Parts: sequence; structure tokens; C-alpha cells
Amino acid sequence: MSKHRLLGMSGSLRKDATNRFMIRNAARLYGDVEYTEADLNLPLFNEDEETANGAPESTILLAGQIRAADAVIISTPEYNKMLSGVLKNALDWVSRVKPNPWVGKPVAVMSAAAGRAGGDRAQTSLVSSMTPFQPRLIIGPEVSVAGSRKEFDADGQLTNDRYEAALTTLMEKLRVEVERG
Ligand SMILES: Cc1cc2nc3c(=O)[nH]c(=O)nc-3n(C[C@H](O)[C@H](O)[C@H](O)COP(=O)(O)O)c2cc1C
Repeated sequence: MSKHRLLGMSGSLRKDATNRFMIRNAARLYGDVEYTEADLNLPLFNEDEETANGAPESTILLAGQIRAADAVIISTPEYNKMLSGVLKNALDWVSRVKPNPWVGKPVAVMSAAAGRAGGDRAQTSLVSSMTPFQPRLIIGPEVSVAGSRKEFDADGQLTNDRYEAALTTLMEKLRVEVERG
């Protein structure tokens, strides 16, 4: 098989988002891979807009990137105990594109947040949001980076061996799932 195509989705739009760092570290730990980062800066979902003009180009592009990827990694911040609105909005838009690009897709989720739980609850809400789309979600290890702004160096590299080890295992499991076909 040629290089796997991996798509990263960060639920935070900040340039230096720790969730952006997470998906980049995950891609590094996945190994030799063709990596693409999605842009989740989509318009807010509005059914009137959809009825009048269909899904925007940015949504069609995102759905196409998901479809073309061998695997997707998603990292969510925790906003008031849930996944971010940015990420939920993107999932809602993509859910309107047919055929569903998520079916059978190997997907690994993770979180990074300021709080002590590292966005555990956000991650749980992300898994619930993904369930209707029927991806092949990798179950554990749960990677939830607490106090996330202190866990990366100036280049965005994870500095904590414990998180690096858990993320390595998660990426190994994702690779195995892709190779299972
Ligand atoms: C609106 C808002 C709500 C937040 N709620 C939580 C929360 O419930 N739990 C938590 O651990 N951090 C919370 N935070 C802090 C984020 O975890 C922190 O800003 C984190 O760095 C966001 O991820 P990022 O670095 O990828 O942008 C919140 C931040 C914002 C802006």
C-alpha cells in the first residue's frame, strides 16, 4: 500500500491551538504518512442558506477530504464541558453531504484543554456526536491533555512522555485499523 492519507481536524481555530499541536504530534507519531489539515472555519449552519444555495464550497471540500482520507484524527478543546462549537458545526455541515463520508472510516479522537481532566467530557461528547455517522472509532487509550498550554514546546512538540506514549499507542492502533482495510 502507498503512504496512508491522514486528515487532521482541530476543534480550535487558533493558530497556536494546543489541539492543532495535538493532531500534528499525532501525525508525526503515526509514522510515514501523507498528512492534510482540515480548515474548520466554516459558516454557521443555517438550513435556509442550505436550501437556497446548497452546502458551501468549504463544506464540500471538507467532506471530500474526509472521503479521500484513509484515516481521520480529531482533537477537541473543551468549551463549557463539551466539544467546541466550531467542531460541532463542521460535523453538522458534513452530515448534510451525501453519501456520508464517515461510514467505516477509521477515526481516532483526542482532546487538549486547560482543565485538570484534559477535556475528557468534551471527548465523550465528541464520541456521542460521531456515533450516528458510523465511523470505525478507535477505542482507547484515551488521550486527554490537561493544562494543555504547558505541555508543548515552542515548536508545538509534546513534552510529556506519558502523553506521547499514549498517543503513540493510539496511532499504532489507528494504523492497524487502516491496514485491516
Ligand atoms: C468559551 C470557553 C470555554 C472553556 N471551557 C472549558 C472547560 O469547560 N474545560 C476546560 O478544561 N477548559 C475550558 N476552556 C479553556 C480551554 O481548555 C483552553 O482555552 C484551551 O487552550 C483551548 O484549546 P486550544 O489551545 O486548542 O485553543 C474554555 C475556554 C473557552 C474560550
